[in-house]
Amino acid sequence: MPKNTTFILTLLLALLIFCNVKADENILGATPPMGWNSWNHFKRKTDDAIVRAQAEAMVSSGMRDAGYVYINIDDAWEGTRDSSGEIRANSKFPDMKALADFVHSKGLKLGLYSSPGMKTCAGFEGSYGHEEQDAKTYAKWGIDYLKYDLCGLRVQMKAAGSDVVAEKMMKDAYVKMRDALLNSGRPIFYSLCQYGHNQVWQWGASVGGNAWRTTGDINDNFKSMVLIGFHQAGLSKYAGPGHWNDPDMLEIGNGGMTTSEYQIHMSLWAILAAPLLAGNDLSTMTQATKDILLNKEVIAIDQDKLGKQGDRVYAEGSVEIWSRDLADGSKAVGIFNLADTKSHMSLDFQKLGLHSPVSARDLWLHKDLGNLNSGYTEELAPHSVVLIKLSQ
Ligand code: GLA
Repeated sequence: MPKNTTFILTLLLALLIFCNVKADENILGATPPMGWNSWNHFKRKTDDAIVRAQAEAMVSSGMRDAGYVYINIDDAWEGTRDSSGEIRANSKFPDMKALADFVHSKGLKLGLYSSPGMKTCAGFEGSYGHEEQDAKTYAKWGIDYLKYDLCGLRVQMKAAGSDVVAEKMMKDAYVKMRDALLNSGRPIFYSLCQYGHNQVWQWGASVGGNAWRTTGDINDNFKSMVLIGFHQAGLSKYAGPGHWNDPDMLEIGNGGMTTSEYQIHMSLWAILAAPLLAGNDLSTMTQATKDILLNKEVIAIDQDKLGKQGDRVYAEGSVEIWSRDLADGSKAVGIFNLADTKSHMSLDFQKLGLHSPVSARDLWLHKDLGNLNSGYTEELAPHSVVLIKLSQ
């Protein structure tokens, strides 16, 4: 091949790679979504006033500037359809478009919830048979995020009588709404919610999901959070920019766990590159809650540009070591003591693929630990985490 042809081809290839990188930065969910969701704290009580108060608190608390931008209304906003079949919000939301305008005026985005079934989980109107129409309505209102919860469709899936037919029905339903959203004229983040059935992580991206729930519902207690969070081991290879595993929303600040248990929750979700959707009342946060949700060093782990989800490296009894590779070549390492008693542990650099000396920073203490020469030894309080960033 003549020399200048090789040169031109190389140049074209470089340009292609550059354009792709650029495009990646602009995809929906290039990093895991961050925001707030109404369900964990307010459930069916959520109304227009509550949503506005959350949007205001998101700004005044500094959360928006720390990256939390979605204000997501979960189930129980739906009303009836009008004579042309268009969905209307119920009386708790007098004007959804005006609410979206308000949320947008704060520099935030608005999310909604629906189901591919006739009914949602809480028994409200689902999108079955109205997918195109609903997506257009969402776009008209100015919606930026849709959580699409299988729920009502399960009744029809059961009636299908065969697992294979039921699975196809579910996937088709997700594809249908994906196409409807793509047709709506507005970029809308598409969040699948079917509780991790049928190994959704293997096909969630192919039906258009920007995220998919990998588990059943989280509850505001240590047992539930640990069961969900630490069962994410092995799923890291399925996540990446634009398509994330979602181990459910945060319970931080809802009162059912201690501060150090909530630190475990936040640290693990950051290592998992999980969506960070606060599920508490943002207008009444204690300083301890703010310190967790607003820890910029931990948020930076979750939002790391490499978009590589972390995973479990090893465990010693009830102490688990999880690690996540970061864009700058360093690693975020979480040492989690899940025991009800103190635990002594020595971090094994070799198992982490590191050679001493390693420079370390503690992301909860906001403190450089200097160069660590031979592993790292720590006595861990019961139900606590040490989250460190290690670089060679
Ligand atoms: C399901 C979902 C929850 C929530 C409720 C609302 O249980 O998994 O996250 O959306 O429905 O009814």
